[in-house]
Parts: sequence; structure tokens; C-alpha cells
Amino acid sequence: MSTEIADIQDLDGVGPVTAGKLHEAGFDSVESLAIAPIKELVEKANLEHSTALKISRAARQTIHTDFVTAKQLWERRQTLQRLSFGSNNLNKLLGGGLETQAITEFVGEFGAGKSQICMRLSVNAQQLNKDGGLEGRVLFIDTEGTFSAQRVHQMAQSLQLDPEKVLDGIIYSRAYNSDHQILTVDHSFKICKEENVKLMVVDSILSHFRGEYIGRESLAERQQRLNSHLHKLLRIAQALNLAVVITNQVQANPQAFFGDPMRPAGGNILAHASTHRVMLKKASGGIRIAKIIDSPYLPESENYFQITEKGVEDATPRNKRDD
Ligand SMILES: Nc1ncnc2c1ncn2[C@@H]1O[C@H](COP(=O)(O)OP(=O)(O)OP(=O)(O)O)[C@@H](O)[C@H]1O
Ligand SMILES: [Mg+2]
Repeated sequence: MSTEIADIQDLDGVGPVTAGKLHEAGFDSVESLAIAPIKELVEKANLEHSTALKISRAARQTIHTDFVTAKQLWERRQTLQRLSFGSNNLNKLLGGGLETQAITEFVGEFGAGKSQICMRLSVNAQQLNKDGGLEGRVLFIDTEGTFSAQRVHQMAQSLQLDPEKVLDGIIYSRAYNSDHQILTVDHSFKICKEENVKLMVVDSILSHFRGEYIGRESLAERQQRLNSHLHKLLRIAQALNLAVVITNQVQANPQAFFGDPMRPAGGNILAHASTHRVMLKKASGGIRIAKIIDSPYLPESENYFQITEKGVEDATPRNKRDD
């Protein structure tokens, strides 16, 4: 994607008034316009449909996104980067680390280690490529108020990193309800680009939606808003070559006669939007199991980790140890 992108005001059809409306709705760059659905330009920036269409086309032309060959797709994939978890077992499970240009979802019951993994990744993302990092900053969207600066400080210190520098590299945003969460992501393109954000975390993706949309009659609306929210995250990941991590809870599956009675919350919408899904489980002796449950190319396998001062580290269950 070209980087010499003009201001949105240089696009055909965008005068100062329209530019003002677009800015207010969170569309701050040509890229953000190119990846937005027309419907969103109409609804959020209050534009005529024909104007929105014209602007969208002009934006896409400017950054040449409309048609690519499979070779270009392959080349784009070559720019994909991987972020180390700080655990070889987890890196191996995810095919070498957490991928950019994708959404990776961690699912599990309370205390399974989802937030701990998010915090450790936030430390790692800032490290040099040669040390498994992405050499960028982090945008951490916290919907439950469980992010802990003390814990990140502890992780950084035990990894012999400068804790203050690490904390400074995490841009934190507390989302108080689903509207706020959606708005934060809508406005994040600009900040991610300007601040060189390479990892975006939403911990957790669904809690507000689940709490606010209660009852069958509101489910369709909830899923529709969730869908658009997730697609926005994915488009940011792809346009800026950054990694997105989301966390999710499990819920009981009343239809399960065999196998695991717990399944990820959020239904098909979430299942389809996440590129890779990883289920986390607590096992005995402080050991935790991470298992790939859905991925376009990673095999269904599992591996072990533990939560320590450093965040996450490898673990070996007693029955698999050599001693
Ligand atoms: N400094 C630490 N050293 C070792 N273990 C820790 C430390 N801090 C937290 N933990 C462990 O991490 C667990 C909490 O994990 P985490 O907060 O990631 O859960 P979660 O999956 O996000 O759960 P929830 O769904 O409630 O948000 C606790 O059970 C605790 O044992
Ligand atoms: Mg948590």
C-alpha cells in the first residue's frame, strides 16, 4: 500500500464541510475511508449515498486496493510479522508467534490466563524484531477494568526491561459500554498509524455486548453491531500490518451431549471474524493448556504454559516430564 497519501481534502468530492464531517466521524485518513463500508460513511458522517460512493471510490483508487493478483496477496503475506509470546510452546502452537494482519482470539473461563497473555504480549510487542517483538507501541482497550499497570511493571522488571519505558509504550483506553468500545475502535486508525501501534488488544470483546443486549429480540442487533466492530478491527490489522488480540469468555452449550460442554460465547459472528481461536484451560498444578480450536491453516493441537512473574512461560505437565 502506498504511503504517500494525500490529505482527505485532496480527494474528489471532499470539500471542507465534508472533510469536517468525516473527521468528526473518525475518518481521518484516506486509508480509513478506503476500508470503510459505504453504509458507514452515510450513517456516521451523515453523507448522501452518492457522495459517499464517490469518496470511497476516490480513496480506493488513491491507495490501489481494488484488484490484486494472487502474487500480490502472496507478497503481502511475506510482510506478515510474528510476535513472540515469551513461551516457545505458545509460539509453536500459533505457527511461530502471534500473526499481524489477523485477529487472534483467546477464549476461556475466568482466571484461565487471557488477560495475562494480553499484558505479556503488550510488553513483548515493543521489543526489537530480533528479540521476537514488533518494534511498535500497543493500544490496549480494556472493557472490564482488569488491565494492571503494576502487573506490566512486574513483568517488565523480571524480564530485565525498563518498566517505565514499557508502560509508556502502552496506550490505554478504558471502554465503559459497547458504544464507547465501538467508537474507540472507529477512532483508532489514526492513532495506530501516528503512534506506530503494532499490537491492538480488546480485553474482552463481548462483555459489554452481552450485558447490554439481553433477550432473544435484541440478539440480531447485537450480532450486527458486533460484526461491524470486528470487521473494522480486521481491516485495521490488515491495512497497518498490526496484530489484533481479543479475549472472550466461554458459555455452556446445552446441546452438547458429548465432548466439551463449554463453547466460546458470541456465536457464528465471532467464530467467523476471528482468524485463529485459542481455547485456554486450567489444569492441575498451575499448568494451563492452550488449544487451537479454529484456524484456516494451523493444525488442531494443544500445548502447555504457566503464569509466572514474567507473564507467561512454558510448562511441562508432570506426566510428560523426563524426570
Ligand atoms: N504475578 C503473578 N504470578 C503468578 N500468577 C499470576 C500472577 N498474577 C496473576 N496470576 C494468575 O493469573 C490468573 C488470572 O489470569 P487472568 O486475569 O489472565 O484470567 P482471565 O482469563 O483474563 O480471566 P477473566 O475471564 O476473569 O478475565 C490468576 O489465577 C492468578 O493465579
Ligand atoms: Mg481477564
